[in-house]
Amino acid sequence: MSTKPIVRIGDPLLLRKCRPVEEFNTPELHALVNDMWATMHALHAAGIAAPQIGVDLRVVVFFVNKNPRYPTAEPVPETVLINPTVEILDPTTDSLFEGCLSVPGLRGEVARPKKIRYTGYDAMGNFFERTVTDFHARVVQHEVDHLDGVLFPMRVKDFSRFGFIPELEAAGIIPKVSKDDPDD
Ligand code: NI
Repeated sequence: MSTKPIVRIGDPLLLRKCRPVEEFNTPELHALVNDMWATMHALHAAGIAAPQIGVDLRVVVFFVNKNPRYPTAEPVPETVLINPTVEILDPTTDSLFEGCLSVPGLRGEVARPKKIRYTGYDAMGNFFERTVTDFHARVVQHEVDHLDGVLFPMRVKDFSRFGFIPELEAAGIIPKVSKDDPDD
């Protein structure tokens, strides 16, 4: 298990539509998942998608315990999600400022549906499905977007609500966050 360099916005590797995983419970797949966890935790992020470490496969991992940036967000269980599907159950949207490891230092307001059902497989190939709302739904949608080459700035509608963290803080557009706040 090792941490990998993060591919950043501007690199066409982030714009690809990733391929489905065809074989589960392989050493290669477990190594990929372990590298993703290591990289995500090293950077104190909430989630990461395989293309962010340059791998063209439909694999995301996420885990939110207590995040100082989202103090009211409910915890999201540690999840390996492979070949996901996402179905919108409630098209009503919530808006929240998002960040991304591949878009370091920036935040932007993104509206996303509040309630989804998602399905997928773990690294062993076990199928699962969940119906989730709010922050959990947002994290899944953000990460799954990466598998289709979509980065959060592409979903920002109002560019007066997009920018560098210190500038947005100084303008009172986002609350002040702690110094070790993650770029996720
Ligand atoms: Ni991201």
